[in-house]
Amino acid sequence: MNDDFIKWNDNIYSVGSDVIDNEHKELIHIINKLFNAFSEGKAEDIVPVIIKELSTYTQKHFKTEENLFETHNYPDKENHIAKHQDFINQIEIWKNKMNQGEKNIHYELMDFLKTWITEHLQKEDKSYDTYFKEKNIQI
Ligand SMILES: [Fe+2]
Ligand SMILES: [Fe+2]
Repeated sequence: MNDDFIKWNDNIYSVGSDVIDNEHKELIHIINKLFNAFSEGKAEDIVPVIIKELSTYTQKHFKTEENLFETHNYPDKENHIAKHQDFINQIEIWKNKMNQGEKNIHYELMDFLKTWITEHLQKEDKSYDTYFKEKNIQI
């Protein structure tokens, strides 16, 4: 079992908060589980589990970040929340595809998830890290 589809790297992904880094690691772990199942030819079986875990865990994680934006009046709050909402909508679309019995969605789903999470961590999430550091706000 390998966990390398997305590899955590502090230099690339850390936002300077253990709580948030751990939540991001958990999200990456969920996506890696899909990849590992794919490597074993079991991706299709695990798709419903992954979608369920992702929708539950992202709600929790997005709330963590959005509460932080609220508390510290983060200027890019609206844009960032819109990105989160977009992800939630995308997951709903994947859920619908799955429920409609669409076959072999796992490959495209893995690709979407990897792209979304790695880009979001490096762009939007890194931006609040930079902003809070500039303002000397410990998160
Ligand atoms: Fe995040
Ligand atoms: Fe975020």
